[in-house]
Amino acid sequence: MGRFNRIGVLTSGGDAPGMNAAVRAVTRLALLKGIEVFGIYNGYRGLIEGEMEQLGERDVSYIINRGGTMLYTARSEEFKTKIGIDKAVETCRKFGLDGIVTIGGDGTFRGAVELTDAGVPCIGIPGTIDNDVASTDATIGYDTAMNTVVELVDKLRDTGESHSRCNVVEVMGRESGDIALNTAIAVGAVCAVVPEMPTDFDKLYTKMITARKNGKRNFIIITSEGVGKDYCEHLCDEIREKTGIETRFVRPAHIQRGGSPTLRDRVLATQMGCAAVESLVSGQMKRVVCLRGSAIETMDIHEALYLDKMMKNQLTKEEEDLIPPNRLYDMRRMVADRLALKEYLNYMITNIVL
Ligand code: F6P
Repeated sequence: MGRFNRIGVLTSGGDAPGMNAAVRAVTRLALLKGIEVFGIYNGYRGLIEGEMEQLGERDVSYIINRGGTMLYTARSEEFKTKIGIDKAVETCRKFGLDGIVTIGGDGTFRGAVELTDAGVPCIGIPGTIDNDVASTDATIGYDTAMNTVVELVDKLRDTGESHSRCNVVEVMGRESGDIALNTAIAVGAVCAVVPEMPTDFDKLYTKMITARKNGKRNFIIITSEGVGKDYCEHLCDEIREKTGIETRFVRPAHIQRGGSPTLRDRVLATQMGCAAVESLVSGQMKRVVCLRGSAIETMDIHEALYLDKMMKNQLTKEEEDLIPPNRLYDMRRMVADRLALKEYLNYMITNIVL
């Protein structure tokens, strides 16, 4: 492997608080190690178009506290095609980029795999509020988004309590119910409705009716967007009908993606940014940085994607056959542990909260 003289860094997919902190860490540590850094604007689309400029130490000053991403982001359809990948590889050659640190969610990692396979080594850093990257216990931005939801719902409860209402709040997360489950616990919700497991609505309505009789005024139900479009509107109608409780619906939507990152996200982003650079310079390419327990580790980028597919029940038999049996066992255990944790969170909400 040749020495890394110049790397690129980009953010792609939905922005997440803490992405800037990761860009800062990548830039500063790479510079310290004598590697030049180019900030690529607008994700893979910018890589195709060659939208980039060299970053110095001061270019990443005073961004650790800022939400959004200073490199901007975009979802690129062209990059999903062979022509798009070829153009991106060509741009890397033109600018002399020896490798790229890509910050984003599972879609970003799929792009990183394509690029790696086409000859440009990539290291992925998980940055998305959804926490739906199977290889890591936490993604950058997830903690901030949850804190934002908690702050909003605490406000909502003031008015819900005054008016004796139920509030249904739909949070983001794509197919992952992590934001919903954790925030439901943190705000004292009576239920979290998530795509990973069924909800016993009859039990919920009985519980609500009993609690109302016993003097409970406000009810919070957190739903995850992954349960389906227009789901919440119907749910509100059903709650009114089955319990007689006045119900309102709130969707905080993209507000969840904004704001200054929490301490936890700033630290995680900094650790992951540094780990990405360390990994590159030590010759460990084609990897994804992950948090496992309290340790920052890396995982093979292809394996991380297979793990992701396994979590989403999208792994094909052919792909499964490519994984060594001992790794397959580990991966199945990781997926099972993750689901077990979600089930336990749901158990707590269902049986302890009210
Ligand atoms: O992946 C982050 C996320 O905010 C999801 O939670 C949400 O489903 C999606 O992005 C929204 O995407 P867009 O910004 O394209 O509306």
